[in-house]
Amino acid sequence: MSDPILFFDLKSPARRLRADIEKRLMAILDHGQYIGGPEVTGVEAELAAFTGAKHALAVASGTDALVIALMGEEVGPGDAVFLPAFTYNATANAVLMTGATPVFVDVDRATCNIDPAQLELAIERVVAEGRLKPKMVIAVDLYGLPADYPAIIPIAKQHGMTVLSDAAQALGGGQGNKRIGALCEMTATSFYPSKTLGAYGDGGAMFTDDDARFERWSSIRWHGTDAAKKESIRVGLNGRLDSMQCAVILSKLTIFEEELGLRAAHAARYLANLKGKIAVQTGGPDDRHAWGLFTVMVENRDAVMATLKDQGIPSAVYYSMPLHKHKAFAPHAPAEPLVNCEWLAAHALSLPFHPYLTDEQIDRVSSALLAAL
Ligand SMILES: Cc1ncc(COP(=O)(O)O)c(C=O)c1O
Repeated sequence: MSDPILFFDLKSPARRLRADIEKRLMAILDHGQYIGGPEVTGVEAELAAFTGAKHALAVASGTDALVIALMGEEVGPGDAVFLPAFTYNATANAVLMTGATPVFVDVDRATCNIDPAQLELAIERVVAEGRLKPKMVIAVDLYGLPADYPAIIPIAKQHGMTVLSDAAQALGGGQGNKRIGALCEMTATSFYPSKTLGAYGDGGAMFTDDDARFERWSSIRWHGTDAAKKESIRVGLNGRLDSMQCAVILSKLTIFEEELGLRAAHAARYLANLKGKIAVQTGGPDDRHAWGLFTVMVENRDAVMATLKDQGIPSAVYYSMPLHKHKAFAPHAPAEPLVNCEWLAAHALSLPFHPYLTDEQIDRVSSALLAAL
């Protein structure tokens, strides 16, 4: 019998890297700097070099990365933060934790990312209403596909807003000749184990070219203290990433480019099998998808999932509810319907996807999916 098809495969890289990870973890037991060890500055330097951003800061999670970025811009009560309604709940939670108001925006059906035309309309409505100050746009690179930064950034600038990229699902992707982390002025990512660059626990990172912003983030990450860590100069939190997780990420970085290449090859094979027969998330010619997830749109989703399951093929739905329909966020639902978010919530289906799939497995999933439609 052939190997079971896994939705994510977290064990294969652990097997490949085991000796290297053990060596790195043992080195930490020897030097004893469990917090703030050389692994932290080491991973930050490698991440900055990888993305092309001037600064990288390792933090405790992708959620902390978003919160620290918002705090760093002093986002708070009375501010409007625009974000797509089709994303993980962490994006909206981060906004609400600062006391700001999330303004949910519809997405584009093909890219699954925030629709720049809808963003413009949402900003105009907030300006016309006059109750909130447009403060920031959070663009999410859903499933690994970069948002339309060339369109979003000028719209935000025109209204005096900064742009934060929630690239939790997208490290390794890019646009033109730049990588995620260097596509806009602030980027937050996650090292949750199933992400493109996964730790063995929680973790995240932030990227910027701006020295002053980086200083603020570093301070907020360490309880809001000054560089000498003596005086609290602003409100902060414990947003540190520990040396052990940084050691794991340093090890994972040794195979990251190779894994990204495998992701791209597997996505190309799925696309060759499926294109023209089923709707697939699609970006523009300049986009380099990180392929965190491979997502198609199907009409009869529950039946398709059940048929796949019967053949031992896992699949998953990200996300079955747009954020403005969740109890916690419904008070901020816009008056007008977000039709594409609702359509995607009913149709999006993610297929098994990770670097360690075989061609035979990809072909088996593709055939089973097409037969199930
Ligand atoms: C789009 C998005 N934003 C934020 C996060 C939060 O990241 P973390 O789980 O590392 O806090 C996630 C994690 O799944 C995510 O997918």
